[in-house]
Amino acid sequence: MALQGRRILLIIAGGIAAYKSLDLIRRLRERGASVRVVMTQGAQRFITPLSAASLSGDTVYTDLFSLTEESEMGHLRLAGEADLVVVAPATADLLAKMAAGLADDLAATALLATDKPILIAPAMNTRMWRNAATQANLALLESRGMRRVGPNAGPLAEGESGPGRMAEPLEIVAAIEQMLGGGVLAGRRALVTSGPTFEPIDPVRFIANRSSGKQGHAIAAALAGLGAETVLVSGPTAEPDPPGVRVVHVESAREMLAACEKALPADVAVCAAAVADWRAEAAPQKLKKKNGPPPALKLVENPDILASLSKPGNRRPRLVVGFAAETEKLIEHAREKRAKKGCDWIVANDVSAAAGTFGGDANTVHLIDAGGVEDWPPLSKREVAARLADRIARFLERKAAE
Ligand code: C5P
Repeated sequence: MALQGRRILLIIAGGIAAYKSLDLIRRLRERGASVRVVMTQGAQRFITPLSAASLSGDTVYTDLFSLTEESEMGHLRLAGEADLVVVAPATADLLAKMAAGLADDLAATALLATDKPILIAPAMNTRMWRNAATQANLALLESRGMRRVGPNAGPLAEGESGPGRMAEPLEIVAAIEQMLGGGVLAGRRALVTSGPTFEPIDPVRFIANRSSGKQGHAIAAALAGLGAETVLVSGPTAEPDPPGVRVVHVESAREMLAACEKALPADVAVCAAAVADWRAEAAPQKLKKKNGPPPALKLVENPDILASLSKPGNRRPRLVVGFAAETEKLIEHAREKRAKKGCDWIVANDVSAAAGTFGGDANTVHLIDAGGVEDWPPLSKREVAARLADRIARFLERKAAE
């Protein structure tokens, strides 16, 4: 188990996202970590110490001045006896206290007293998040070496939308595993393709598509977060290079295939790129507008990267995952695609205009393997990535045990 024997001090502050921290406790313990919980007064308005204690299997600490708590576990020991301190949700108020070095309750005191690495998972209303005070506090905390996961953008509890949602428990787990080293995918190699391809027509024009690269980049980040040595082969996108990932920038499908082959061997390959099926026979010079009929484009077929990586042989990754972006008959077409390309899993997603998947942050997907179809609820692309990375890790763990 990835976090076997690791000790986490989880500080839960007062925000609606506190309920997700209960799931976080469960996920950490499943992975072998011991979790000691501190709750602020505010947190106790949202969830009870009893719920946290039931899940952590340990006393929950709430009071700086409690004689019993202090005699059992002083706040200094509480801070010192962890391998990592996680603040989730980290409210704007607690971030401000941390930045200012205040110690007016147990949570703030433990944070001031610890010399262990700290991971914060901010959660707050989008206007509080964007406020210059919060951003300045955050910049200060990050300059002191604190690590952050999230917040994600999406619908917030108050009916508004924007950045402020706490990262999902699995994303926080991945960040914890990355910080403590030895994530579940440590020692594994992952290859991910992402973005569109640009196929030249002449030296200045090209054929492209609407892929944003958001999903593929998020998958590479999630796999790296679990400790995999990750190569991301990306077509041109506006997405920043994910931290901890080796990114190879390419333009055309043929360049993408060559970069993928160079990145092998890999334990897992995830092909999320929207590779152009055809390329034009590119003109060596810029096509000139002349009187008469417009030039005809002669298209030739591009290599299929997914099919090529799926070919049996000793360089085939143990797990090959493809995407099927469909606008109709989603599952049927995705199943056919899985068989035709020879990959192990297909992540099927609806890219009809109504679904808003292309360029958007959300994705509703179905995971298709040899056993059948699993429908996932609507999730952000980052959440899809975290789930998929978790599934990949569990698959490879099972294979290694066979
Ligand atoms: O055939 P289609 O493009 O719908 O298949 C989608 C899947 O195949 C995606 O995983 C995509 O990354 C991959 N693909 C590829 N090379 C191509 C075409 C698609 O890797 N030339």
